[in-house]
Amino acid sequence: MRILAIETSADETAMSLLETRNGETFELLAHDVASQIKLHTEYGGIVPMLAKREHQANLPLMLSKIFPNLVPSTCQLAPGLKPDLIAVTYGPGLEPALWTGINFAQDLAAKWDVPIVATDHMHGHIVSALLNTTDGKTYIINKPEFPAIALLISGGHTQLVLMHNLENFEVLGQTVDDSVGEAFDKVARMLGLPYPGGPEIEKLAARSKVKEAYEVNKLVKLPRPMLHSKDLNFSFSGLKTAVLYLIKKLKEENKTGELSDEQKIAIAHEFIESCKEVLVKKTENAIRDNRALSLLAGGGVIASKPIREALRDLVSKLEVELYLPDNKFTGDNATMIGIAGYLHSKAGTVNTLSPNSPELASLKATGNLALYK
Ligand code: KG4
Ligand code: ZN
Repeated sequence: MRILAIETSADETAMSLLETRNGETFELLAHDVASQIKLHTEYGGIVPMLAKREHQANLPLMLSKIFPNLVPSTCQLAPGLKPDLIAVTYGPGLEPALWTGINFAQDLAAKWDVPIVATDHMHGHIVSALLNTTDGKTYIINKPEFPAIALLISGGHTQLVLMHNLENFEVLGQTVDDSVGEAFDKVARMLGLPYPGGPEIEKLAARSKVKEAYEVNKLVKLPRPMLHSKDLNFSFSGLKTAVLYLIKKLKEENKTGELSDEQKIAIAHEFIESCKEVLVKKTENAIRDNRALSLLAGGGVIASKPIREALRDLVSKLEVELYLPDNKFTGDNATMIGIAGYLHSKAGTVNTLSPNSPELASLKATGNLALYK
């Protein structure tokens, strides 16, 4: 079984070709990710129409790279090279961006006469936490003990998910406004840092060992939104506004009208502390409430070292297993989509769409897709 996976939900165009003989081991035959970060940097976030244009330009080029023997006009391939299944992300994400992947997949499915499995991007991030490889080519899926809790933190999402197995999920809580990644990006912008903000804020905060910054930090306090709310929801919009007011206040107090480097470092440090505390506390509540045996975490924000460390401390306190993605799988990629799609298709869901069927033709981008149960 060969799977071609296509991911275009945000600002990464990604394609992977995978092969599995037994449904347990996956060979990564080819893969590519084209990041549009540079393009969106000057706008401080993703511009959907620009993302769409880039995906449209990238997809055919990537396909030719993955299949060097492909005839571009007809997409014809030598027998034996043709995939048996196309996994494509159909949500959640930016709809103009999602559509490019879907339309491309539909066209290939018709030319190759193969089915499509419509795949949930967040299912992909869950799978990314479980991928295990020793050589970077052959992957197996780690089997966590269930029930498991998945913490999904990205530029588009902040969710706590209860996993009954690798296929059935229940969303326990999520952000009521901005995602945590969005908050990182917006706060970075307020501090004059480029997009994506997460790694920049982390770099800045890491300088907080400087003694003066530590002293300023005592004066720089931010709220922990919804820390004590009874539910498992999050809110990051108020935190972002709190940073805005804090910057305004400090600037007014400073004779220069600008923030000092120490103040910037202290804000970055305190902002991470606030996000970390809320994410960890709610994750702890979710694990306890559901007597979960494992914790998984995925999405771009899990690249954060302080957040990874805090989750390690949490699982050792609660004595549950922890699964974190390898660095190359924290961000968006198509390998996670190929394997999630394969698992979903194997489970016999309605999301596997036969070639030339009306269902395949009417597959729609679903920006606010919720994880399938
Ligand atoms: O999963 P992802 O690549 O794309 C989405 O599906 O959204 O996540 C991107 C997000 C951005 O908001 C970025 O600022 C954040 O992940 N991010 C981080 C770090 N690295 C990336 N946030 C905090 N700390 C990091 N080290
Ligand atoms: Zn993502």
